[in-house]
Amino acid sequence: MIIGVPKEVKDHESRVGITPAGVKALTDAGHKVLVEHNAGALSSFTDDEYQAVGAEIVGDAYNVWRNADMVVKVKEPVPTEYYHFREGLVLFTYLHLAPLRELTQSLLDKKVTGIAYETVKDRAGTLPLLTPMSEVAGRLSVQIGAAYLEKEHGGRGVLLGGVPGVPPGNVCIIGGGIVGTNAAKIALGMGAKVTLVDLNLNRLRELDDIFSGRLYTLASNAYNLERVAIEADLLIGGVLIPGAAAPKLVTKAMVSKMKKGAVIVDVAIDQGGCIETAHPTTHSDPSYLVDGVVHYCVTNMPAAVPNTSTLALTNATFPYVTTLARLGAEAAIKENAAIAEGVNTYNGHLTYKAVADNQGREFTDVKTLL
Ligand SMILES: NC(=O)c1ccc[n+]([C@@H]2O[C@H](COP(=O)([O-])OP(=O)(O)OC[C@H]3O[C@@H](n4cnc5c(N)ncnc54)[C@H](O)[C@@H]3O)[C@@H](O)[C@H]2O)c1
Repeated sequence: MIIGVPKEVKDHESRVGITPAGVKALTDAGHKVLVEHNAGALSSFTDDEYQAVGAEIVGDAYNVWRNADMVVKVKEPVPTEYYHFREGLVLFTYLHLAPLRELTQSLLDKKVTGIAYETVKDRAGTLPLLTPMSEVAGRLSVQIGAAYLEKEHGGRGVLLGGVPGVPPGNVCIIGGGIVGTNAAKIALGMGAKVTLVDLNLNRLRELDDIFSGRLYTLASNAYNLERVAIEADLLIGGVLIPGAAAPKLVTKAMVSKMKKGAVIVDVAIDQGGCIETAHPTTHSDPSYLVDGVVHYCVTNMPAAVPNTSTLALTNATFPYVTTLARLGAEAAIKENAAIAEGVNTYNGHLTYKAVADNQGREFTDVKTLL
């Protein structure tokens, strides 16, 4: 198979779909890989590294898309990329189609096989291509929050770990899933006092065991949320209700009672945010103040650490890339239930129910089309 890796063009996207290690495995297996010039540069992978393991470096995106049987990317295509779509092309990337009618229409019109990272589901029922980005965002949320707590960055000048004779900072985490657990690991590692709030008591029991009592756990209700918000130096939002907008758990009134110079990192902002005063920000203008509280609400946090994020993402995507390359899309969809779950568009049909429902379009089960 000929596999194409274009350079990402979405604003501030610095990851890349396949690393040199991935190219080596694919070329060793007899496939051909076309990598656009500088596709990996922002993730610290040079053209020379790709070339050394057998990739062909291609000068422009047009020739990568035109000559590839399958294109492997990171972010959903932006309108300037729709032009490259053509019948029979396999596109493996994050698609997030629900709110993107125009992209959906274009994939359907051009009969592209669109396989979305975010809907690939493994046997355990988890979403293996979302997990690594939540791991990155969870760990990063503490690193970023700690930096914003510095006076220079608008924070109240608290060192999360404290020092002997001075108590550590208070980190409060809402949501004990992947983001929350990874945030807790880093915050505890830095020596902070960490409280984690979740609705799911069984999850709190597991976390209590995992962290051997070093983590304070609290059941999620409005009373406890107000208490943790008032005490927090750093408040991290990491809740998720699958398929729904995040609930506004910390209200504007609670934020107004927080300490001046405290920091909120609302990781759940990509689902609307779980803090009422949070609105989406970008890496070029990441933070703002409300009632003296610093808010950091970047929707694609992993792009801040593209080298780690690319490696983490491609570790997870690569087994599916090799299966698609080895079997071809049609056989891979038939044989591999996880890949079949990822198919959102196939031969002009919309094959993912939630997207069809969201856009009021007709849904067709991909299995009936093969
Ligand atoms: N901003 C970014 O760059 C970025 C990156 C990765 C993930 N995310 C987002 O972070 C969020 C969390 O992701 P995740 O992978 O950790 O999800 P997850 O499903 O692993 O965890 C969510 C947790 O929220 C808990 N929860 C649900 N309702 C709650 C409530 N009312 N009170 C307290 N806890 C509640 C659940 O019990 C669960 O433990 C998602 O919205 C995800 O899209 C954002």
